[in-house]
Amino acid sequence: MMQEADARSPDRWWRNGVVYQVYPRSFQDSDGDGIGDLQGIRHRLDYLAELGIDALWISPVFPSPMADFGYDVADYCDIDRSFGTLSDFDALVADVHARGLKLIVDFVPSHTSDRHPWFIASRSGRESPKRAWYLWRDPAADGGPPNNWLSNFGGPAWTFDAASGQYYGHTFLKDQPDLNWRHPGVRAAMLEAMRFWLRRGVDGFRLDVLYHVVKDALFRDNPPNPAFVPGMDPSQRLLPVHTADRPEVQDVLAEMRRVVDAFSDRASTRVLIAETYLPIERLTAYYGSDAQGALRGAHLPFNFHLIGVPWQAEAIDRLVRRYEAALPEGAAPNWCSGNHDRSRIASRVGPAGARLAAMLLLTLRGTPTLYYGDELGLGDVAIAADDVQDPLERNQPGLGLGRDPVRTPMPWSDLPQAGFTTGRPWLRLNGDWARRNVAAQTADAGSMLQLYRRLLALRRQHPALHCGAWLPLGVSGDLLVYARVRDDERIVIALNFGAGNVEVPPGLVAPAAQVWLSTALDREGELAGRPMLRPHEGLILGS
Ligand code: GLC
Repeated sequence: MMQEADARSPDRWWRNGVVYQVYPRSFQDSDGDGIGDLQGIRHRLDYLAELGIDALWISPVFPSPMADFGYDVADYCDIDRSFGTLSDFDALVADVHARGLKLIVDFVPSHTSDRHPWFIASRSGRESPKRAWYLWRDPAADGGPPNNWLSNFGGPAWTFDAASGQYYGHTFLKDQPDLNWRHPGVRAAMLEAMRFWLRRGVDGFRLDVLYHVVKDALFRDNPPNPAFVPGMDPSQRLLPVHTADRPEVQDVLAEMRRVVDAFSDRASTRVLIAETYLPIERLTAYYGSDAQGALRGAHLPFNFHLIGVPWQAEAIDRLVRRYEAALPEGAAPNWCSGNHDRSRIASRVGPAGARLAAMLLLTLRGTPTLYYGDELGLGDVAIAADDVQDPLERNQPGLGLGRDPVRTPMPWSDLPQAGFTTGRPWLRLNGDWARRNVAAQTADAGSMLQLYRRLLALRRQHPALHCGAWLPLGVSGDLLVYARVRDDERIVIALNFGAGNVEVPPGLVAPAAQVWLSTALDREGELAGRPMLRPHEGLILGS
């Protein structure tokens, strides 16, 4: 049974706290251009502090042609004008810290924009000193791409450059050429870019597609994926054995870790949160470990497995057990139920399921990452074909891969454009914004937002919830029961994934226990005994 050594203390925020992801384009616009910005985030910090989160992760805000909305970086050491300036950024850091919160920026190590000066130089000719900073290869014998690698955004991972007669590699858009992390110049420049933001006071980085940063040195073909069936995302046709999760990625990660460690002290740890879409047995390797067995990789390699798991008590129980068992000793677990790339939880599991999901996410062991808008129960918003912005959808229309539906503006109030902008929002609002917004849910005692606030407050208040051990108490039918335990505090969580009433089996809940919280927010203080749960209800029971 894993239990955290320390309770809440400033340098433990990343283990005991809660991260909140802001998609800056969609959070709050301050200048009427319809695009959210840094000043906008500053205006909403009180909302976040009151919500009860500990850290904000902001998706990229660096200069970018926006081919992939900031995940195509043209300068690692500045702010895109659509978001503001470096002084706005400094002011944001100061404001975040003044509220006792932390700020994580998104760092995109695997590729740059094709407009980055490094790539412009690299492309200028085979003799360019920057040529080897990217992946340039001669055509295959038939003149086609050098191997069979596929882009995650459709088509081959290679684009031909007629002027120099070679192909360059890109795991994503052709506007996002892959960097060559085997080149010492690339390593030095990228690590220096990290230091640039650490000196400005950021508390860490979310590392975009870290598991893709190094590719096979021999550029071998990827093998076919035996599980592929037509209708799946075409980029899944091959198994990415030579393009993802290569052992060399661990060396890059270890170097990044040394960089953040050099800026950490007892009072404040600078952290690495790695994007790792990998099986549990592989993602745990990203905690790293040095010769002495100390964890020297990412503080939090993202665990995305709640996103794909079947929404059933038994499947979730199995997932949590597997993950808990696979964690290296001392590793900080983490969970999330969505992000700017995946369908929103409220659309995946429905409104009642979303309440249950909130309770699950905030009562499992480890650091949860919340996605903006989920605290309002925001769902995916259908975007008309003419309004599509996401290159993933534009490149492969109709496959349902587009991510615009999960990136729509945060609805704040019933003011025009939900208080998000005085202009025309870059993506449309949710259809029900006049009712589903922060102001309306603040006024409604039974709202999803109130549930999040209560969950976050309970979590903060009780060591068992923010750093206790996770103790599985079994599954009976649609009911999942577990406890969070620390010292003599034992808090039971019962989650009903089914559409019928279900009773907690005898012996699991102390006779004197009370309902501390129901997902329906209407049973607080009820004596638990052998509590009955209504359809899709979750309860936190304590004494
Ligand atoms: C990551 C980001 C995604 C982006 C891709 C390419 O998966 O989360 O939004 O498109 O990397 O940078």
